[in-house]
Parts: sequence; structure tokens; C-alpha cells
Amino acid sequence: MILVTGGAGYIGSHTVLALLEAGHEVLVLDNFCNANKKSLERVGALTNREVHWVEGDIRDEALLDNLFSQNEIDSVIHFAGLKAVGESVQKPLAYFDNNVNGTLVLCEAMSRAGVKKIVFSSSATVYGDPASVPIREDFPTAATNPYGRSKLMVEEILRDLVVSDPAWRISVLRYFNPVGAHDSGMIGEDPNGIPNNLVPFVSQVAIGRREVLSVFGNDYDTSDGTGVRDYIHVTDLAKGHLMALDYLSRHDGLHTFNLGTGKGYSVLDVVQAFEKASGRKVAYEFHPRRPGDIARCYADPAHAEEVLGWVAEFDLEKMMADTWRWQQKNPEGYSTSES
Ligand code: NAD
Ligand code: WQD
Repeated sequence: MILVTGGAGYIGSHTVLALLEAGHEVLVLDNFCNANKKSLERVGALTNREVHWVEGDIRDEALLDNLFSQNEIDSVIHFAGLKAVGESVQKPLAYFDNNVNGTLVLCEAMSRAGVKKIVFSSSATVYGDPASVPIREDFPTAATNPYGRSKLMVEEILRDLVVSDPAWRISVLRYFNPVGAHDSGMIGEDPNGIPNNLVPFVSQVAIGRREVLSVFGNDYDTSDGTGVRDYIHVTDLAKGHLMALDYLSRHDGLHTFNLGTGKGYSVLDVVQAFEKASGRKVAYEFHPRRPGDIARCYADPAHAEEVLGWVAEFDLEKMMADTWRWQQKNPEGYSTSES
């Protein structure tokens, strides 16, 4: 059985779905601080499988000990954590507590239970402002905010852990910009309040929940002056987790993989692709750069392809079409949709 922390969240729910479809037994641990139980109900309906879940916190030692002793857990996929960059600047301690301390408590409980296989959600944010693109895994790392620092700290802790005890098997997955939704339109990203990220914001403008997109900066050294990112379909990302976990059943050590498409798209490329997918106009206006943003960030995904055999299948058009389907079926996200 695979313990999936944060399995009710955006990437977690898509990964749980993929795991269940592949026939795995799954147990979700989530404190629902940024998720809705409907995501798991819908994963159950889509897969025709019961989704086992426990409401609780990864920092709760006693709860973890109980979970490990009462279930035959052999590996962990660890999504649980806080992820809003701006909020992390305001509340650094909450981020270090959830993301760093939370992972420590989890790894200690795993160690006590003799479970030493973990897939960890890291982020392209650990590359800071890269000297060049595309970004390879061996590029230098740097954090520019507490969120990024929390990811980097955990990566380093995991590296020390493997050195201390070679029985650990660890995949560190550095996601680029996850977007899109399951193509049923039943599960997707449901941000609280005003979305921080581009695609959910664009999608809410298209559906009429927000009036106009603020494009943060049109004076970058990029094709049209707006920021360039590597958007990756969440379903491709989910598949990457299955492959990274499977790899650990055959290989020890710690392995770090970029999960991105290798293609960079500007903010205006995304707006245009969304307009095409939705048939709606997305109003936008230019604003100054957002503090901390970089001009361009996209992956060299060759390592994941060579080692895991993983490649991203879905293009920007599909990412936008699936986001739009989810948005239309759930205009207010999970909270007000009927089932
Ligand atoms: P999400 O907020 O949708 O999912 C995180 C889940 O963890 C939520 O369901 C939340 O309720 C749960 N959670 C948070 N703290 C917890 C705790 N202490 N105990 C138990 N559950 C807890 O976010 P997501 O986009 O699905 O991201 C998943 C992981 O991937 C996170 O670690 C995030 O930092 C990382 N990541 C996300 C992105 C992105 O852009 N979405 C990019 C790179 C990395
Ligand atoms: C994309 C582009 C913005 C919103 C963040 C985190 C990163 C990772 C993924 C977790 C940029 C522009 C955005 C808007 C805009 N998360 N933009 N108007 O900043 O690449 O990455 O999410 O690990 O750590 O930093 O993603 O979607 O916020 O921005 O113009 O309202 O869209 O300036 O160029 P980002 P994003």
C-alpha cells in the first residue's frame, strides 16, 4: 500500500487517480487545509474504487505511527505542504513548520516503521534565477523565498538521510508549472480566493469570475516581453510519480528528476491558447513585474526520459482545453458544485 500525503490536493488527487487505475492500494493522509473531500469522492467515482483516506496532519507523530502499524504501507508519495510563494514571505515559520518539520516527522515515523521509500514533491523554484535555460538537474540551486528554501532544505535533508542509511530509496521530483485537469472535468485545481498562479487566474477571467488579468511585466528579455514558463499537464505529472516510484523498487539511492515538457511559453502565449480553447476573450492589462519573478524557466527533461522513460505527452492546447472543461463544469470549484 502507498501512503499519499496531501493526496486530496491538486496534484495529489490526480496521482491517486492514476495509482488506483494502475491497480495500486492507496491510503491518503490530508488535513484538508487546502483541499476539499469532494476531490477524493470524485476520484472514487472515476475509478470505481473506494478511496481510503484519513484526515490528519503529517506533523502528528502518534497518528503516523498508528497508520504505519495498522496498514501494510511500503512506500510514501509526499505531496503535503504549503505552496504559496507570497504567503511564505509573510509566514515563513508556518512554511518551515509544515514543509520542513512536517517532512522530518514523516521521515522519522517511516524510519520507525521500516518504510524507506519516498517520492518527494520538489519544485523548479529550487533553481532560483537560472544562468541559462533549459535547466538540467545538475544546475546550481538557490532559494529566493521561504517556500523555495523549505523545498531546498528538504532536498538536502533527504540527501543526508540516504547517506546515513543506504536502505532509503528516494525520488526527488522537481515540477515546473503544473496546469490542466483530468479530462473528465471532474477533478482539477481549486485555489482559495484570488489565484496566485497564471492559469487558474486566466480561467477565472474567461468564466467571468474575475474581470481582467494583470500581466506582471512586459519588459522581460523574452519574445514578447512577458515571462516564459514550462507548463506541464497534471496528468503527465501524475504519471511521472508512478514511474519514479516504480524506479525505486529496482534502484536504491536518491534520484532527482525535472518534470517539465522542455518547452517555454510566455504569458501571452497562454492567454492566446486559453482564448482558443474556450472561445472566450481574456481581458488583460500590463502591470509592473511581480517581485521575485524571473524572465524564463523551462526544463531539460532528458534525464527523466533516459532514466525513467517518462515524457510529457500533452501540449499547451490540451492543458488549456482540460482546464476550461474543469472550470465550466465547476465554475466555483468544488465548494458549490453539486456532487
Ligand atoms: P495542494 O495545496 O493542492 O496540495 C497539498 C495538499 O496537502 C492539500 O490537500 C493540503 O490540504 C495538504 N496539506 C498541507 N499541509 C498538510 C499537513 N501539514 N498535513 C497534511 N496535509 C497537509 O498543492 P499541489 O499543487 O497539489 O502541490 C502538491 C505538492 O507539490 C506541494 O508540496 C507543492 O509544494 C509541490 N509543488 C506544487 C507546484 C504547483 O505549482 N502546484 C509546483 C511545484 C511543487
Ligand atoms: C507564471 C507566469 C508570472 C499570475 C509558481 C511558484 C513555483 C511553482 C509554480 C510551487 C509568470 C505570470 C502570473 C498573474 C501573471 N510552485 N503571471 N499574472 O511564478 O512560474 O511559479 O508556481 O512550487 O514555485 O513560484 O507561476 O503561475 O505564478 O506565474 O502575469 O496573475 O505568469 O509573472 O511569468 P511561477 P505563476
